[in-house]
Amino acid sequence: MTVTAVVGLQWGDEAKGKFVDLLAKDADIVARFNGGDNAGHTVVNDYGTFKLRLTPNGLLNPKTTCVIGPGVVVNLDTLIKESVLFQNSGLDLTDRLWISPRCHIVMPYHPILEGIYEQAKGSSRTGTTKRGMGPVFADKVSYNGIRLYDLENEEVFAEKLRIQLAIKNPILKAFEIQELVFEQVFQEKLEQYRQLSHWVREPYGLIQDLLASNGDLLLEGAQGALLDNQWGTYPYCTASTTLSGGASAGLGLPPKSIENVVGIAKAYTTRVGAGPMPTEDSGEIGKILLEEGAEYGTVTHRPRRCGWLDAELVRFTCQINGVTELALTKLDVLDKLPILRIGIGYRHPDTPDQLHHYWQGDTRWLEACQPEYIEMEGWQQETKDIRSYEQLPQNAKAYIKKVEELTNTPIRYISVGPERDATIQVW
Ligand code: GDP
Ligand code: IMO
Ligand code: MG
Repeated sequence: MTVTAVVGLQWGDEAKGKFVDLLAKDADIVARFNGGDNAGHTVVNDYGTFKLRLTPNGLLNPKTTCVIGPGVVVNLDTLIKESVLFQNSGLDLTDRLWISPRCHIVMPYHPILEGIYEQAKGSSRTGTTKRGMGPVFADKVSYNGIRLYDLENEEVFAEKLRIQLAIKNPILKAFEIQELVFEQVFQEKLEQYRQLSHWVREPYGLIQDLLASNGDLLLEGAQGALLDNQWGTYPYCTASTTLSGGASAGLGLPPKSIENVVGIAKAYTTRVGAGPMPTEDSGEIGKILLEEGAEYGTVTHRPRRCGWLDAELVRFTCQINGVTELALTKLDVLDKLPILRIGIGYRHPDTPDQLHHYWQGDTRWLEACQPEYIEMEGWQQETKDIRSYEQLPQNAKAYIKKVEELTNTPIRYISVGPERDATIQVW
């Protein structure tokens, strides 16, 4: 049995999609365990380019079964769009997709409420993906959620929806937003559910059987460790847990079953949305990384904030996820830079003689910190066609070794382009 989790080690968009697609070639099951359609995972392979938000990436491997576990919140509209996309690409999902009926559903009022919160916060807004994540997870933990189970029975669904509209509509009215009409929402969701219902079946038994028969299970994390609701830069974070530990509750897996944790980190840092980012470069370097890395959000198309690699953050996120092997991605984006900086910790104005760790303070504290850097020489040579570690320029190897040393984690993969084969396996 091999259970491998793939998790993001920064603020998302580290190229998890590429690595899940790559590793799915050996997987019997690929499963999502957190988040929702706020994720945007890009895959470039023989079938084309896909930007998936809910469907696990293993669908592109014909032998792999794909699971959306109970820890994921589902937007039915997005699921339908993705199923049509696959059908148009000649991929048959009929028996290969399992969606847990325990998944909570994003209802039309969730993105609207999120908009109200964001507007009220003004300049301190989170800068969400507008997919309703905060409100749908809030309803989940406050026992106000509607799950796929509820859509199986029209009476149950009608009762739950009536109660929720009785709570939510007065809020919309207070903010002068048009109220939602029961019959419209009711019929729309039932119709969407009918299109998906053959995939709604609890995958718990399937996964337990796979564990018992020593099969290969790949866990596809969404977002990144620094967006985790608990350990991320709260409140500039997402609503679910993004750490490998979340896969246990999000899927119904015994924690000890997760043997390998592949941590994905960019060779620099990006962030989309608001919140502290100590190594952000809002000058020339940031612009070069944005353009060379085509750093525009997969879901919202917003330009991503860019800056140097923050090894202090990646060391922490390797530790908290129990990362057993690192994938360093988008190394090619650094090709032209003559000097590279790496963040190694923070100085706070109140304690300037101490080099601090990320976990020592909160978001406001981190905002006041200045990063400390080391500098390395760049390689100023194209790497996108290199396929073996030995062929990498000497300075690129030195950079990789330094990242291993600073993060205290072995690097197994280096990615030098979006395509499946633009990957160097070091060991
Ligand atoms: P995810 O959310 O972690 O799956 O990442 P995204 O798909 O949102 O963003 C990663 C982007 O980088 C995608 O457009 C990928 O096609 C692209 N990408 C992945 N690996 C590489 C790489 O090694 N080099 C370059 N230049 N682009 C890459
Ligand atoms: P993948 O899986 C990058 C960010 C948003 C915002 C914050 C909260 O593609 O790596 P939310 O909509 O979740 O309430 O927004 O989290 N965010 C992401 N940033 N990649 C993602 O997913 C993200 N999912 C959420 O930009 O700052
Ligand atoms: Mg993404």
